[in-house]
Amino acid sequence: MTLEQIAQLESQTLIPTYERLPILATRGEGCFLYDEHGKRYLDFLGGLAVNALGYNHPALMAVLRDSSESLLHVSNLIYHPYQAPLAQKLSAISGLDRVFFANTGAEAVEGALKLARAHAGRAVSDGRFVILAMENSFHGRTLGALSVTWPEKYRKPFEPLLPGIKFVRVNDLAHLNQSFSEHVAALMVEVIQGEGGVVELEEGFLRAAQQLCRTHGALLICDEIQCGLGRTGRFFAYQKFGLEPDIVLVAKPLAAGLPLAAILARQRVAEAFHPGSHGSTFGGGPLQCRLALKFLEILEQPAFLDHVRHVGAYLRQKLLGLQEEFSSIREVRGDGLIQALELPLPGKEVVRRGLEAGLIFNCTQERVLRFLPPLIIEEEHVNQFIEGLRPILETVLAAQMKGVHA
Ligand SMILES: Cc1ncc(COP(=O)(O)O)c(C=O)c1O
Repeated sequence: MTLEQIAQLESQTLIPTYERLPILATRGEGCFLYDEHGKRYLDFLGGLAVNALGYNHPALMAVLRDSSESLLHVSNLIYHPYQAPLAQKLSAISGLDRVFFANTGAEAVEGALKLARAHAGRAVSDGRFVILAMENSFHGRTLGALSVTWPEKYRKPFEPLLPGIKFVRVNDLAHLNQSFSEHVAALMVEVIQGEGGVVELEEGFLRAAQQLCRTHGALLICDEIQCGLGRTGRFFAYQKFGLEPDIVLVAKPLAAGLPLAAILARQRVAEAFHPGSHGSTFGGGPLQCRLALKFLEILEQPAFLDHVRHVGAYLRQKLLGLQEEFSSIREVRGDGLIQALELPLPGKEVVRRGLEAGLIFNCTQERVLRFLPPLIIEEEHVNQFIEGLRPILETVLAAQMKGVHA
C-alpha cells in the first residue's frame, strides 16, 4: 500500500490521537530510515529517544534471532533467566537497590506514584499524599502520569485527576521552599525537561530540592525516561549534579526498540511494596530483558559514553554556529545528544521542509526544534544534518524577517 492509501485507511480506522509526519517507514539501517520509495532519511528523532543504538544494531539483531528460537513471553508468575541480571546491572549503574519492570514510561510513573503513597503508609490518611511536580513537566498520558504533567491542554479535558498534586516553578528556589510541607510524599523531576523544550533544571535548584526532600522525609523521584540511559553521555542525567534520588524511572531506550520500563528504588522505599501491591502482565519479559542486557553491556563500555559526550559536544557546537549565522535563533539548549534550537517562530514548517530534505526531527513547545538522535551517530552525520538544516532555516527565518519588515 502507498503512503496515501495507508493514511486514508488510518483516518477511517484509528482513534485520531496522532498527527503523523507524511512518511511511510519500511526499513531502518543505523541512524537512517527508509520509506517505501527507498528515500533515505537521517533520523535525529530516533523513535522519540528509543532507538539509542539505531535501527538494526548487529548485537541486538543477534539477540532477536536467538530469542525467536527460545522464549518470547512468560508470565511474571514464573522465573526466567534475564530479569535478575538486568536488575543487578541497573542497580549497579544507579546505586539503587531494587527494580520493578513495567512496559512504558507512563506505567513506570504510575508505579512510582503508588510507591510514594505506599511509602508514606499510614501518614496518607493524615494528608501526606501531596506530590510535587514541576511546571513545564511531562510524565505521560495515563491518569496518574497526566496529573503530574504540567500543560493544561493535556490535563484539563480529563479532570478530575489525582488529588494532592502541586506544581513548582522551574528553578524558583523561593517557590520550591514554599511548596514543601509535612504533607509532601514525593517530588518528581526531569533533570532535563524533554517535552517541555529541553529545559535543564539548575544545579542549585536540584540540590535544594534534594535537601528539602530529606528534611521533610519526602522521596526524590527522577524521571529519566527521556534524558537517561546514556543520552547525556552519563548513565543518568542526574549524575551530572551528584544527586542521589530515592526513585529513578527509565523506559524509552531501555530495550533499544521494544517496550520496557523500570522503577529503580532504594531498599527502604521498595519495602513499601509487597506481593500483590503492584504488577504488570508484560513487564520484564524475557525478550525485552535480553535486549536491555545487551544495550547496557554496550552502554557500559567506557568508549561508548565518551563517544556520546564527544559527538554531543560537536552537535552543540554546530548548533551554536547556526545561532551565530541566524541571530533570530533564541537559544541552543541541551546536553549530550538531547539538544534543541529555540526559534522565534513556530517550527512546524521547518520540520516539514526537513522531511522533504531527508531529515527527521521534531518540534516541541511549538517553537523548539528537538534533536534526539541515536547515540551511535558520528560527526559526519552531524555535518550532514547541519548542512541540510541550514538552507531550511535560511528560507524560513528570512521569510519571517520579510514579514516583520513588510
Ligand atoms: C520524561 C518522560 N516521562 C514519561 C514519558 C511517558 O513515556 P511513555 O510515552 O513511554 O508512556 C515521556 C514520554 O515522552 C517522557 O519524556
